[in-house]
Amino acid sequence: MKPPSVLQQLPPDLTLERLPKHVAVIMDGNGRWAKNQGLPRIMGHKKGVDTLKDLLRCCKDWGIKALTAYAFSTENWSRPLEEVDFLMTLFQRVLRQELRGMMQENVQIHFVGKLDGLPHSLQAEIERSMSETQHNQDIQFTVATNYGGRQEIIDATKAIAHLVQQGKIAPQDIDEALFSSHLYTAGRSDPDLVIRTSGEMRISNFLLWQMAYSEIYVTDTLWPDFNRTEFHKALANYQGRDRRFGKV
Ligand code: IPE
Ligand code: IPE
Ligand code: MG
Repeated sequence: MKPPSVLQQLPPDLTLERLPKHVAVIMDGNGRWAKNQGLPRIMGHKKGVDTLKDLLRCCKDWGIKALTAYAFSTENWSRPLEEVDFLMTLFQRVLRQELRGMMQENVQIHFVGKLDGLPHSLQAEIERSMSETQHNQDIQFTVATNYGGRQEIIDATKAIAHLVQQGKIAPQDIDEALFSSHLYTAGRSDPDLVIRTSGEMRISNFLLWQMAYSEIYVTDTLWPDFNRTEFHKALANYQGRDRRFGKV
């Protein structure tokens, strides 16, 4: 029998008030994890889904109200067709399988990215999951799929330019609030903490606008190995930081 996990509840060295309200993760290292195990890359993606499921549950257990996960970037289309196809099918299957669980766990799922560029069958599953879970309130779970931060900024700019052209707003009406309200993430909070696994110290086109004042934590752990103990470490590190937002 498995020993009861000591990490079901918020570890005592963490303080709820000082936890990030919104955590975002750049889930990197699936391919390297698989290679290390002598497995094909796709097996790393499969294992990565389990990691994400447990992280979502952990956020819920520990009182973190928003989690955003980077699942597929606009640049990831340049991977081998076989891998891209596997990922699209995996997303669709997982969504279908997990919908009931998300309803039970009161998870509100949301997707950001250029969703109309995804396979139609996946788009249908995405729409269904977003609409069915829209009133759930325990945790906001956002998945960035076919997401690119630059593309998001261009899309927002086009929408605003259109409003100016129609005479609905004047150029001087454009401020941060108006701009944010045209991003895919409109109405959602910016991440307080962004975690990247697998040791890469880069943003890879993730949440460029929203990350302006996020704390960044990079761990060498590969995504499939990122567990509650690793998350605990990231949160403890975050709690020790002094977020100044430009002040002294
Ligand atoms: C992240 O793992 C998953 C996606 C980008 C979909 P990778 O597939 O990038 O794994 P590595 O970086 O090659 O190890
Ligand atoms: C970032 O990982 C994208 C996702 C996690 C979805 P990548 O593996 O695609 O990033 P690079 O290529 O190392 O910058
Ligand atoms: Mg990678």
